[in-house]
Amino acid sequence: MNQPIARLRRLRSVELRTHAAADSAEFYSEVWGLSVVESGREGAWLRGTGDQHHALQLTQADRNGLGRISFAVSTPAEVDDAARRVAERGILVVQGPGPVDDAGGGYGLRIVDPEGRIIELIADTLAVPALGGDDAVPVGVTHVVLNTVDIDAAVRFYCDVLGMRVSDWSEHQMAFLRCNSDHHSIAFNQAEWASVNHVAYEMPSVDHFMRGIGRLRHHGQLPLWGPGKHGPGDNTFSYFADPAGLVCEYTSGIAQIDEDRWLCRVWRRVPELSDLWGTAGPPSRQVREHMAGIPDPGAFERHDLERAS
Ligand SMILES: [Fe+2]
Repeated sequence: MNQPIARLRRLRSVELRTHAAADSAEFYSEVWGLSVVESGREGAWLRGTGDQHHALQLTQADRNGLGRISFAVSTPAEVDDAARRVAERGILVVQGPGPVDDAGGGYGLRIVDPEGRIIELIADTLAVPALGGDDAVPVGVTHVVLNTVDIDAAVRFYCDVLGMRVSDWSEHQMAFLRCNSDHHSIAFNQAEWASVNHVAYEMPSVDHFMRGIGRLRHHGQLPLWGPGKHGPGDNTFSYFADPAGLVCEYTSGIAQIDEDRWLCRVWRRVPELSDLWGTAGPPSRQVREHMAGIPDPGAFERHDLERAS
């Protein structure tokens, strides 16, 4: 049996393709609490208070979609090893292995998953100091939930190829995958089409989380769903829509997993387990529509469209 291609250390950043990059950059910096580190005509790079050069990259596009998801690996040698293993498995590579000519630098490899999502493995990114202060702003990105048309195939790829582990299932509707002690860095949601469901940002504590929600309220932005606390992962949640309609989440207190003791379980999808505090109620049709988004053709079809034009 093939080894996973690499050992993922953590989720590093997410690139979103958005039809409203300028408005979204303003929202994420002025309201959401990230800081712009670079910006240009094609988009913007924003950081949290953590030690990553950026957490979010916004790229102007005709329609909303996923740009890529970046995971940190330890060394450039691991990136090269991953490239060899990817070649053995016949997985499509769209860039690298090699130096990344992009904000944040690094040495990376970009591969394509079965539904056309670009996954980047990257080492040696620019070091930035964590920021101090007690503001109610995100540390960085902590998980991404992805809609998939085939949850079993998605879980198989992320476990077999990327070495992730399933922490929990929510019936056969959602699967929560980890790459480190955080209960999940990625989750899949069985859906009618592939798309980004939401991107979650880590708040340092429940107090920061609530103050963040308060700041959004002062900006006239009420949660689409939340505040509440999930069963799987035990994390708080409050979901909002950005100016392009993409869903962003404040969360805190994600469960920490002891690799030697954890037993994966299948959670029933009942209100008392989906909403532990009973404060959020069921998700509205509006939040469900935002989380479904629009079908994302992914890298395969984009590549074909670009070649055809
Ligand atoms: Fe989430």
